[in-house]
Amino acid sequence: ASGQLEKDLVVVGGGPGGYVAAIKAAQLGMSVACVEGRGALGGTCLNVGCIPSKALLNSSHMYASAKHHFGAYGIKASDVSYDFAAIQKQKDTTVAGLTKGIEGLFKKNKVEYVKGWGKLVSGSEVEVAGVDGSSARIRAKNILLATGSEVTPLPGVPIDEEKIVSSTGALALKSVPGEMVVIGAGYIGLEMGSVYQRLGAKVTVVEFLDTIVPSMDAEVRKAFHRSLEKQGLKFKMATKVTKGEVAGGRVKLTLESAKGGAAESLETDVCLVAIGRRPFTQGLGLEALGIKKDARGRVEVDSNFRTSVPTVYAIGDIIPGPMLAHKAEEDGVAAVEIIAGKHGHVNYATVPSICYTHPEVAYVGLTEDEAKAKGMEVKTGKFPFMANSRARAVGDVDGMVKVIADKATDKLLGVHIMGANAGEMIHEAVLALEYGASAEDIARTCHGHPTLSEAVKEAAIAASFGKPIHM
Ligand code: FAD
Ligand code: NAI
Repeated sequence: ASGQLEKDLVVVGGGPGGYVAAIKAAQLGMSVACVEGRGALGGTCLNVGCIPSKALLNSSHMYASAKHHFGAYGIKASDVSYDFAAIQKQKDTTVAGLTKGIEGLFKKNKVEYVKGWGKLVSGSEVEVAGVDGSSARIRAKNILLATGSEVTPLPGVPIDEEKIVSSTGALALKSVPGEMVVIGAGYIGLEMGSVYQRLGAKVTVVEFLDTIVPSMDAEVRKAFHRSLEKQGLKFKMATKVTKGEVAGGRVKLTLESAKGGAAESLETDVCLVAIGRRPFTQGLGLEALGIKKDARGRVEVDSNFRTSVPTVYAIGDIIPGPMLAHKAEEDGVAAVEIIAGKHGHVNYATVPSICYTHPEVAYVGLTEDEAKAKGMEVKTGKFPFMANSRARAVGDVDGMVKVIADKATDKLLGVHIMGANAGEMIHEAVLALEYGASAEDIARTCHGHPTLSEAVKEAAIAASFGKPIHM
């Protein structure tokens, strides 16, 4: 980065929010620069989040399947083992290929990739400290902030990324630990805990609340919790970690009941801190411009993604809403459409959530408790994969589909799926909810046979007509 650039739009941050916004803005005819300081495009998601975690989830799932389940299918694989360095290499190669892919998309769409850290000088100027030591100024009609999030630290448990790790360290371990303690039974804790449990580590998850992933529907969440326990994950619920230190190559943790009380100690090889993420806006210069943040450090925006400085917009993990890559992408597209004078909009009520464990859990819309708390009268339809022919044929029957609809009008309110491929199956429910469908609409839609998706249709039949066909 050097010299002075003039653009219609400068995007600060090259994660799924920022890079997608930059490409879309270019496609809408704007001249665009995207400033990214980490040395690679794709942000948290591609470099140290969604993609590397899914690569490790896949490798560990294949290994665990071969080791423990192939026999049931008559497949002899007696000497199954893994080479962890090769597993890590496959993950790294995938990430490198995809980040280069985004650079290619930038070239194709004529987005200028500026490698460095951006700082706002005014509502129309960004100063860039280049990763190569150079500096540049970019003047632009509009600025889009997409600087993402970082790990929330846990006081008393300092992260060194080797023994006490965040998700970033957990994705890059050099060997599989004998024992691992995960602090936080959220998305990262359960996904990364599953990875290492499958590869042979004894994993204990310590969670402050008395439930895992509270945003899931209670019924599905309980079945999910049981399923994870059956796989070998251990849980210490309603427990907090007050201290963690490394001594003699081991991690010594001090735990306490969430309500307080006597301290307990727990030793492990590696401890993963996964208690959430927080917006990252350090060094952006927001304070000097008077750009407002809320109590949780999120940049305040209006319904058009506009901050308190009218030419500065913000999207993704730094603003309110679910901290998810696909939400950041939607924000990015909508924000640049608005900047281009069009009518961008994101419906946060239909953003799906997916936990990529095995079974997967995927959901969209309201949980039963949320609907009831809103004073709605609901009806539900459930269908277990145990009664689905495809799930039986492939021998993967753990889980169910739950459809929640308004009792009087049959309007779809939420769909919750636990099962293999739930993350792929959820999208018919997302589309149905987005289009304001009823449970009957799904029930009357022809689904291919034999597919796992037929369980969605059956649960919708159960919600709409009271009884499914195949149960
Ligand atoms: P980010 O992806 O965080 O990107 C922001 C970028 O801005 C970064 O690259 C950063 O280097 C750059 N930046 C920051 N400040 C500056 C500056 N001043 N100048 C220049 N550049 C700057 N979400 C899902 O939807 N599905 C998943 O499966 C999933 N898995 C995850 C797994 C893990 C382990 C983690 C940690 C997260 C996961 N997420 C997942 C969440 C997802 O990664 C985030 O929601 C998403 O990356 C947010 O996108 P963003 O563009 O807002 O920010
Ligand atoms: P999370 O918010 O999903 O879960 C954090 C968990 O830690 C919660 O259950 C919380 O109650 C618990 N907790 C908080 N403080 C604690 C303490 N002191 N002691 C013990 N437990 C404590 O956060 P996580 O897992 O760190 O992930 C961050 C975000 O990244 C997610 O919220 C999600 O937005 C995103 N993500 C999404 C994934 C996906 O879509 N599949 C995968 C991984 C991350």
